[in-house]
Amino acid sequence: MAADKTETCYQECCVQNFQFYLEHSGEHQAMLQCVNSVLPAEFKRIGEGKSSLDFLGVGSGGGEMDVHMLTLLQSTFPGVPVTSDIVEGSVELTDNFRALVEKTPNLKTVPFGWHIMPSEDYVKQAKAKGDMKKFDFIHMIQMIYYVDDMAATIQFYHGLLKKNGRLMIIVEAGKGGWDTLWKTFKNDLCTHTITEYRSSGEVKACLDKLGLKYDEHRIHNEFDISQCFDQKSKLGHDLLNFMTAKDDFYTGFTPETQKAILDLFKNKCSTQKDGKTMFNGTLDAILVHA
Ligand SMILES: C[S@@+](CC[C@H](N)C(=O)[O-])C[C@H]1O[C@@H](n2cnc3c(N)ncnc32)[C@H](O)[C@@H]1O
Repeated sequence: MAADKTETCYQECCVQNFQFYLEHSGEHQAMLQCVNSVLPAEFKRIGEGKSSLDFLGVGSGGGEMDVHMLTLLQSTFPGVPVTSDIVEGSVELTDNFRALVEKTPNLKTVPFGWHIMPSEDYVKQAKAKGDMKKFDFIHMIQMIYYVDDMAATIQFYHGLLKKNGRLMIIVEAGKGGWDTLWKTFKNDLCTHTITEYRSSGEVKACLDKLGLKYDEHRIHNEFDISQCFDQKSKLGHDLLNFMTAKDDFYTGFTPETQKAILDLFKNKCSTQKDGKTMFNGTLDAILVHA
């Protein structure tokens, strides 16, 4: 991605495509199951003995996951003041996030610091200021694909963790459907919004290289892509556009590449269930220790 970008790729029609994908894929529901089973114990340990708690979301999008996690954090430590900072490059998605906060009564007591800019700019500003705010819990959910330098980004946010803090990275699973798709068609897909595809395999290799300790939790998810094989289906077309990060799958690829991608979808990225083609959308949640 260009170093002088002012907004991220999540604008206008891309925001709609993303929202359509979230509704169709059940991805947030799958993440919420993991969050609900893993984070209560993590939060208890992170916050033990602390008189205030600071939360940071990086690439939070519409904030659906943040609102849930902040609520969970508050209920784990009733009465302990919580602050929230958000680093998000999309103005439109941040507007949705603010609207969601407005509708969530328990978040009225949480002061929000909105940093509407790419993470790269937040890093530059924080370093220039010198006095960097530290956090008890930081998350990067489905956003590590978009940063310019993964190792530098992880190292920076890890450096912002307070004692006992955790950095949670949620990312597509190594050898899952997404990983297979994006690595097989790297030359066709890694051309604009994502220039270097990263699954949990690459994230873990990076953490190992940085010498950081982490725990892993698998998030199982699959979703119906049967309509992708019907050229007349709008739903199928919308899904193909989002999954290949193209405005139009049918004009964006040659007929040979379209066929090869659809063959890969069917034969390597999915399983057949009850007459449906179910895409393997498995994710991994990686909790990096302070
Ligand atoms: C796939 S969406 C995930 C949104 C949210 N975390 C979720 O799971 O619903 C990726 C998000 O990362 C944001 N993003 C992309 N590149 C970014 C960057 N360099 N800095 C900050 N945010 C970025 C996008 O604007 C978008 O909101």
